[in-house]
Amino acid sequence: MTQSVFPENFLWGGATAANQFEGAYNLDGKGLSVQDVTPQGGMPATIGDLDPLITDEPTPDNLKLEGIDFYHRYKEDIALFAEMGFKVFRLSIAWSRIFPKGDEKEPNEAGLQFYDKVFDELAKYNIEPLVTLSHYETPLHLARTYNGWASRQLIGFYERYVRTVFNRYKDKVKYWLTFNEVNSVLHGPFMSGGIATPFAELSKQDLYQAVHHELVASALATKIGHEINPDFKIGCMVLAMPAYGYTANPLDQLAAREFENQNYLFSDIHARGKYPNYIKRYFEENNISIVFAPEDEAILKNTVDFISFSYYMSVAQAHNPEDYETGRGNIMGGIKNPYLESSEWGWQIDPVGLRLVLNDFYDRYQLPLFIVENGLGAKDVLVDGPDGPTVEDDYRIDYLKKHLQQVGEALKDGVELWGYTTWGPIDLVSASTAQLSKRYGFIYVDRNDDGTGSLARYKKKSFDWYKKVIATNGESLYH
Ligand code: BG6
Repeated sequence: MTQSVFPENFLWGGATAANQFEGAYNLDGKGLSVQDVTPQGGMPATIGDLDPLITDEPTPDNLKLEGIDFYHRYKEDIALFAEMGFKVFRLSIAWSRIFPKGDEKEPNEAGLQFYDKVFDELAKYNIEPLVTLSHYETPLHLARTYNGWASRQLIGFYERYVRTVFNRYKDKVKYWLTFNEVNSVLHGPFMSGGIATPFAELSKQDLYQAVHHELVASALATKIGHEINPDFKIGCMVLAMPAYGYTANPLDQLAAREFENQNYLFSDIHARGKYPNYIKRYFEENNISIVFAPEDEAILKNTVDFISFSYYMSVAQAHNPEDYETGRGNIMGGIKNPYLESSEWGWQIDPVGLRLVLNDFYDRYQLPLFIVENGLGAKDVLVDGPDGPTVEDDYRIDYLKKHLQQVGEALKDGVELWGYTTWGPIDLVSASTAQLSKRYGFIYVDRNDDGTGSLARYKKKSFDWYKKVIATNGESLYH
């Protein structure tokens, strides 16, 4: 029998976010988050339309499709994850379940109890929770009253929240992520950073100052977490998107490097504890001057234990982008690459890009890595199978298999990787478009974009495929 290239104790699993799958958006004292007022999703459909549609308050007419009721069905869902053999399950804590408005002094006990029950249920199956502290769900009150992360006051509110959950769950959770796709705030300031100023009116100064507040808050969380439990493993989470120069023209390569630097800025600061020099030049040329509080420099030195990232696609960049066709993408995008195919939503599929990303991050930081999102959003068709309704999702299997084979190559290259969680192991609501028909799961959920459906769960073909991948620790990928 051949030895698997995946390390022993590799953490296989799936990833979710509270606002996209819990439902129960206003139950048991939960406050509204920025997600609850973006009925069409938090990101523009096309790169270039900058602002999502934001409503005052959710009403029956404009209510966003809310989750898939994990709030009431968590036992059933976790049992299905356990059946697939999950070693890890990534979920976020909805900040507004714990602090409904965000600036209260005392937490909402009912919210805390919900996650106690979820973590206890995971423990029954020896599934390790991997918890995102803030996944595009800033309490709405903080967006409306303080302009989200544009205000330094958010650091204090976030600190109170993370202290509360670190203390509460210190014996139940070991792996933590501070902010989901922390770099996305540059492209979706409302969804990612709770910044209410319309994007077109938001100055670069204010945007990068907000970035600074998040980076300080993240480092502070790392410091506090390690004080509360030295065994905690605390990571940053970035949206990874490798960029290729469209041609061998050095100017195209430079454009690609500049695009990547905008993303590296975030992992560099999390891993190295200070701002990189390349951004100082960018700041000077754009009249950006970050205001540091006296303690910030020291706080930023609290670096992360590991680097985690999402990976869905790559892009091409050129010095003259207007001469090319622009592709659609995950929050950010670039020029369409003629060598790659695209998903039904226009995201370009590039398994080799994942190998490149893994090697780039590892060479840059020599820190353990964790792939915490990867997957294919596709339209599934429910058909009758021998054991009931199912989906023949060979396209999803093909996508995941090709990506995981490239992960195997990166492991052979010498990269240190702790685990891999697919995005949306159970169908959930799309962050960018609020559709349920953009499905990622191994488990089909009977829910339609108009909110109809029984919410019943059905196993797709990929369910047994992933189960086998996990059971063989990746060996089945090569047969
Ligand atoms: C990532 C987010 O950007 O991509 C998730 O962290 C999101 O929240 C995922 O769901 C897939 O994007 P979408 O828009 O297809 O849901």
